[in-house]
Amino acid sequence: MKIRVAVLYGGKSGEHEVSLRSAASVIRHLDSKRYEVIPIAVDKAGRWSLTELSEKDRAAESLPVRSNGPEFVLPLSGAARPVDVVFPVIHGTFGEDGTLQGLLELADLPYVGCGVLASAVGMDKEVAKRLIQGAGLPIVPYLALRKDAYARDKVAAQVGEKLGYPCFVKPANAGSSVGVHKVKDPSQLLAALDDSFRYDTKVLVEKAIAAREVELSVLENPDPAGEPLVSVPGEITPSHEFYSYEAKYLDEKGAALLIPAKLTAEQTQRAQDIARRAFRALEGEGMARVDLFVDRVSGDFYFNEVNTIPGFTSISMYPKMWEASGLGYSELLTRLVELALARHKRKAELVREFHV
Ligand SMILES: Nc1ncnc2c1ncn2[C@@H]1O[C@H](COP(=O)(O)OP(=O)(O)O)[C@@H](O)[C@H]1O
Ligand SMILES: [Mg+2]
Repeated sequence: MKIRVAVLYGGKSGEHEVSLRSAASVIRHLDSKRYEVIPIAVDKAGRWSLTELSEKDRAAESLPVRSNGPEFVLPLSGAARPVDVVFPVIHGTFGEDGTLQGLLELADLPYVGCGVLASAVGMDKEVAKRLIQGAGLPIVPYLALRKDAYARDKVAAQVGEKLGYPCFVKPANAGSSVGVHKVKDPSQLLAALDDSFRYDTKVLVEKAIAAREVELSVLENPDPAGEPLVSVPGEITPSHEFYSYEAKYLDEKGAALLIPAKLTAEQTQRAQDIARRAFRALEGEGMARVDLFVDRVSGDFYFNEVNTIPGFTSISMYPKMWEASGLGYSELLTRLVELALARHKRKAELVREFHV
């Protein structure tokens, strides 16, 4: 009997289209000898539909989201499981932020990747920073602002004093560089904040680091007592002012990706150490991509952010960095599904009732 893997894709987020490409790649690479794939499309309104994929659909770069498929309703009793494990390939809000993970916990279904807690804190760049800092790891100096509660007339001066210009403005919870701005002088700050506040009620202002952007793939150790596994580092060199939405998705030449990154042996070790400790500090499970900055002048490392459902297209950094580390795409997926099943089993053994 094959294990039925539901691949959830699409979703109600700004990263819907990226998800269609990530999931196409995941479905193509899931080991067909072990797994029966059950594709479930989530449209932009949030409707889940069982999707039949033709040969042509499966060969395409991007999966279809049709509105005519039968609705997939997740039973919450856990009694008759319609699938054995869920692979959420939905980036951003309602996919990567713990909400979907919470639903899957209620349904008592094993699922790939981080649990509710790590997903939620990984999504919130400010809470993530606090945990990372608490673990003794370096973060970029920042200010967190709340919509309707910050001093609009004083903020430009405050930023100048605490962080200086240029600075970066970004929503605490977003992704794909949506709402991210590089602010070169105080006169641009309020417009940048207004735009960022369209996406979240909490916005971060960060010191701009003239940095190289280094990423690492992290995988939970199959041995629960073991340390998380970390790939070779990769580097992204945007050809734009920074790694903006345009550089990521619209401009084919928006960024050069280099795996492994050109780092010394010591720098590589430092990067891997930060990634491993960051994954632990955020209570990571399954997988995550950890993104770092390396100051071009001082060489200092900073944790930037973690992505708990990283891009999974055939050219995405997460699977590519594993490939370069000796773990092929299909093997990686098998590991992830096995980790999901193992976690579910560990949790099922916990006592949920207390009798004196
Ligand atoms: N403090 C910073 N200093 C320099 N560049 C930054 C800083 N913050 C963000 N950036 C640039 O903006 C991009 C997107 O910001 P990031 O925090 O990674 O958000 P997202 O979750 O949208 O990817 C980064 O990849 C980098 O190019
Ligand atoms: Mg990023």
